[in-house]
Amino acid sequence: MAEARQAARQQDHYSTLPSIRTTMPIRAIIFDLLTALLDSWTLWDKAANNDSAQGYKWRRRYLELTFGCGAYRSYEDLVRAAASDVGLSETAPNFLLEKWDDLQPWPEVKETLDRLKAKGYALGVVSNCSVELGRRALQRCETSPKTFDAFITAEEVGFYKPHPDTYRSILSALNVRPGEAIFVAGSSGDVVGAAAVGMQVVWHNRIGLPALPGSAPLVEARSLDVALKALE
Ligand SMILES: *[C@@H]1O[C@H](CO)[C@@H](O)[C@H](O)[C@H]1NC(C)=O
Ligand SMILES: *[C@@H]1O[C@H](CO)[C@@H](O)[C@H](O)[C@H]1NC(C)=O
Repeated sequence: MAEARQAARQQDHYSTLPSIRTTMPIRAIIFDLLTALLDSWTLWDKAANNDSAQGYKWRRRYLELTFGCGAYRSYEDLVRAAASDVGLSETAPNFLLEKWDDLQPWPEVKETLDRLKAKGYALGVVSNCSVELGRRALQRCETSPKTFDAFITAEEVGFYKPHPDTYRSILSALNVRPGEAIFVAGSSGDVVGAAAVGMQVVWHNRIGLPALPGSAPLVEARSLDVALKALE
């Protein structure tokens, strides 16, 4: 199984998708926001003087800081600290925060969300973000004010993912048990973190991030619709 996943990871798209194992019927789908639903990479790259190698380093550093930091610290401060750690000047985080409303969902996102909604799934989002930036980013993915049934930010929970309280808060906001939800991860920390609270995890690994030890997503794919095919 691990070997098969390893081999599959080397391809761009996966041809065989396992079906979702269900002991309980799946009622809700919970998403990471800034990586799984939104293409925030493009904006980070632009902010890093259009140097995508620098943008990637900055973003990886940011993920390391959020992964390691546990209790919530200002999202904006972490973005700035990560920029400074990789040698970017203040203009980079300033640009990112000023252009925040330019964030775009991945092209297939709105259609996929509408399809899942029409199938009757409750949709939730939990984001490592401040309330204000999180709400603005969420709006970029909505096709109507009813697209999402619940939304929680790290700021409200008091912890960043992968702290278990972040995932538990969104489960309780949706009023579902872990076995009744699928978590759609954007990056490796979520794959492990959401599984640790008992959810089955699907990994929308758009840019091919490396997996963390213990990572065992049901499906890993480069686009959201492929990642969720088993549910549609
Ligand atoms: C990156 O390029 C875009 C145009 O493609 C430009 O609008 C933007 O200001 C550039 N980024 C920076 C930080 O200069
Ligand atoms: C928040 O942290 C988790 C764990 O490291 C990570 O998986 C996730 O992508 C982060 N989210 C953002 C928006 O950076």
